[in-house]
Amino acid sequence: MSVDNEFIWWKHGVIYHIYPRSYFDSSNNGNGDIRGIIQKLPYLNRLGVDAIWLSPVYDSPLHDNGYDIRDYRKIDKIFGNLDDFKELLDKAHDNDIRVIMDMVLNHTSIEHPWFIESRSSIDNPKRDWYLWRKGKNRFTPNNWRSAFGGSAWEYDKHTDEYYLHTFFKEQPDLNWRNKSMRNAFFEEIRYWLDLGVDGFRLDVINMIIKDKKFRNNTKIFNLLFPNAKSFSRNRPKSYKIVRKLRKLTNNYPNKTLIGEIYNTPPGNSKLVASYLGNGNDSLNMAFDFSIFFKGWSAKKYNDAIENLYMELPDKGWPCFVFSNHDLNRSISRFGSHSEKKALLTAVLMFTLKGTPFIYYGEEIGMKNIKLRKSKLNDPLGKKYWPLFKGRDGSRTPMQWNNQEHAGFSKVKPWLPVSPDFTTTNVEVQENMANSLLRNYQTLISIRKKYPSLLKGDWKSKGTSNNIMSYQRNYGDEIMTIILNFSSKNKTYLLSNNQYRYIYTTHPETLTDMVTTTITLQPFQAIILELINKPK
Ligand code: GLC
Repeated sequence: MSVDNEFIWWKHGVIYHIYPRSYFDSSNNGNGDIRGIIQKLPYLNRLGVDAIWLSPVYDSPLHDNGYDIRDYRKIDKIFGNLDDFKELLDKAHDNDIRVIMDMVLNHTSIEHPWFIESRSSIDNPKRDWYLWRKGKNRFTPNNWRSAFGGSAWEYDKHTDEYYLHTFFKEQPDLNWRNKSMRNAFFEEIRYWLDLGVDGFRLDVINMIIKDKKFRNNTKIFNLLFPNAKSFSRNRPKSYKIVRKLRKLTNNYPNKTLIGEIYNTPPGNSKLVASYLGNGNDSLNMAFDFSIFFKGWSAKKYNDAIENLYMELPDKGWPCFVFSNHDLNRSISRFGSHSEKKALLTAVLMFTLKGTPFIYYGEEIGMKNIKLRKSKLNDPLGKKYWPLFKGRDGSRTPMQWNNQEHAGFSKVKPWLPVSPDFTTTNVEVQENMANSLLRNYQTLISIRKKYPSLLKGDWKSKGTSNNIMSYQRNYGDEIMTIILNFSSKNKTYLLSNNQYRYIYTTHPETLTDMVTTTITLQPFQAIILELINKPK
């Protein structure tokens, strides 16, 4: 089916990532659920988002909080049931909000019936649906390491073979070279498409194919960056599978596929862009985590963004993300002046060319919290404590108001609420002029109003003095965006033209007309529209 990509929702919408267990608990058992999300649709409408992406809500033993799926067609009972999900889908659509599911293709849960069968005997028809190998001289089949530490192989006494697990041993890797497994998996995806979901975020999609010969990864990479050498990831055939997935979703109108390209070291825009294929035949979008790991500097940000744009195929579409459920929230990575930096990055994200992704709570400046070991849920944190304290700190309950448990639940939540909830919460910020939330609302509506911000070209005006500036142009409309990354007042010289303010992070400095020299406050960000258009 051919689709007019020009005005398609996933390019021009804002996508909001929900970690369902932490969003809103409608049943008061301490866990967020699907009916909780339904109740918060009016809030999402007020914020102005166009789609929600849900971290996994499928039936799961929750070894990796749902990224270990036992039944791809069932909703886990802590989140509700399929009727709840269908209601969410209908009500979200009624409110012009699309729904994107997380799809975990690399592995299933150890409790998935396919794995139980596969494990039962060497000649089981599903044996080859997973990756089983004989050990080598009483050692593992090769030196591949799990992304979560230790060997990627687990010995199974029952058949005297090892199975591969790129993550926890409770998450055995599927064999995507096996056609009957592939077809069975495609049926699981079709199931959700037939139900009406609008797309998928594809978990670690660059890892689904492994070297056919299972060659060892180089030692140095294994030591420094587990699995960086690509015998266990980014194999040529993974691109083929991605193209097949795209063909599948192309049978349904207006769907989107967003890939998580997981690599160590992070920040390889070329690799990320490669999964967009020719821009029309592979993923619609892929996360580039390069900015995540850049130090705070106008030049570093500018260069990373420019580099991503440069790497994209002609018809490829970028997206931008600053926080997610695996890494510390951006506001907690920024160090000093973090609240000001959070607002500046919001201006950046909503004025770049590419789809913005908000991680729940980012819009109110929710921060990571430090948890005691006894309070941890993430097995990764339990395993590596105190060296690495896990990912729970960025998965805490959404802060709705200043009542008990931040209005998330009436009972003790599954993870502690951040102690700053009395001041950092939705209710307070919806009623406070110039709060972060109000700025998010304004920025999203500005982005929707001006075609240059949605689909205009992006032209860097370079960086100097720790100021980054760029233009977005569409037809006659020309926007100039200026971001002061510095903690000092800075002067910025505009070319000799007339501009008007569309937005500023510092409304107190607002004037009607802009002169050629602007004094920017520390961390100030502004959007200007050119009003005397060049002939
Ligand atoms: C992805 C998910 C992460 C999960 C891992 C294994 O990186 O974002 O949360 O643990 O895949 O599925």
